[in-house]
Amino acid sequence: MHPFSRRLFVQATAMGSLGFPTLAQPSPEIPTSKPPSSHRNPVAFSQDRNRIRILTPGLARPFNLLMLADTHLFRDDDRGEPFRSFSGRMAKAYNQTRHFESGEPTDPEKGFTEALRAAQKNQSALVALVGDIVSFPSEAAVEWVLAQLRESGLPSLYTAGNHDWHYEGMEGPLDSLRDTWIQKRLLPLYRGDSPLMSVREVEGVRVVAIDNSTYEILPAQLDFLRQQIASNNPFVLCVHIPLHAPGRSLGFGCGHPDWSADTDRNHQLERRVRWREGGHTRVTFDFHREVFAAPNLLAIFAGHTHRASLDVINGIPQFVTDPNATGAHLFVDFIPA
Ligand SMILES: [Fe+2]
Repeated sequence: MHPFSRRLFVQATAMGSLGFPTLAQPSPEIPTSKPPSSHRNPVAFSQDRNRIRILTPGLARPFNLLMLADTHLFRDDDRGEPFRSFSGRMAKAYNQTRHFESGEPTDPEKGFTEALRAAQKNQSALVALVGDIVSFPSEAAVEWVLAQLRESGLPSLYTAGNHDWHYEGMEGPLDSLRDTWIQKRLLPLYRGDSPLMSVREVEGVRVVAIDNSTYEILPAQLDFLRQQIASNNPFVLCVHIPLHAPGRSLGFGCGHPDWSADTDRNHQLERRVRWREGGHTRVTFDFHREVFAAPNLLAIFAGHTHRASLDVINGIPQFVTDPNATGAHLFVDFIPA
């Protein structure tokens, strides 16, 4: 069956009354966008180790981007002294790692600079930094990242991971802690973009970043997704936490039907409030469903699990990268179909 026909078939059956668990009803508060008439999902895609090729309909010229996540930089200085009781565990977590290809000892700073050097060599059009770039909101680590990016001369796009803004043991709801530490520490990494949702256009392909680092989606982010779908431009979606894929664990936690306070195993270790009682919001489930029904979505890129994986849902691939703390990164080649 032609991939598009299959996709349309799956979509059509999903819209019926089969009762798939991920198919929550649309939120009554937000109107559902109408799918555009032409379909622009990837014609084909392939992967060799850390190189992905996406055959992109309507693309005039090829280009590539570098995607990385989970560098887990831990550099800190005297300014971090008052926060040591909140940063201690994560500051020790990834001090020495093994290189993702050679297996030799390496470390997160080497992993990051090595990836940027490879992007320079590949003349990448964009570097997508997809969360957990730092292990806690250290000023010294953020400054170091900015210096590396400036020196590389490469344009970058950033979305936070659950560790970038998290000081373990600090009290408060996750979304307000996220707002606080984005404003106090992470803001320069966004290079003028809006922190919770942003888009860059390269050769007509939109690279969209949506912050799901609390595992949840806000109504404004769902609206933003709908704008990308309604634009009819081909787009890729960068999210730190992978979207729920059938059979996957809670690491693929955004839109996971089992995600809730009852299944939150790490809230004591990470010293944070428990996940939401009763599970995800309707908005998060709507987001999940609409992402995988988007006719112009080429691919999803995520991190968080620290384990490379691929799922294809409704014809849309979701690539998860190995952690950049080990030097890992993905190159994505967009090739005219
Ligand atoms: Fe991580």
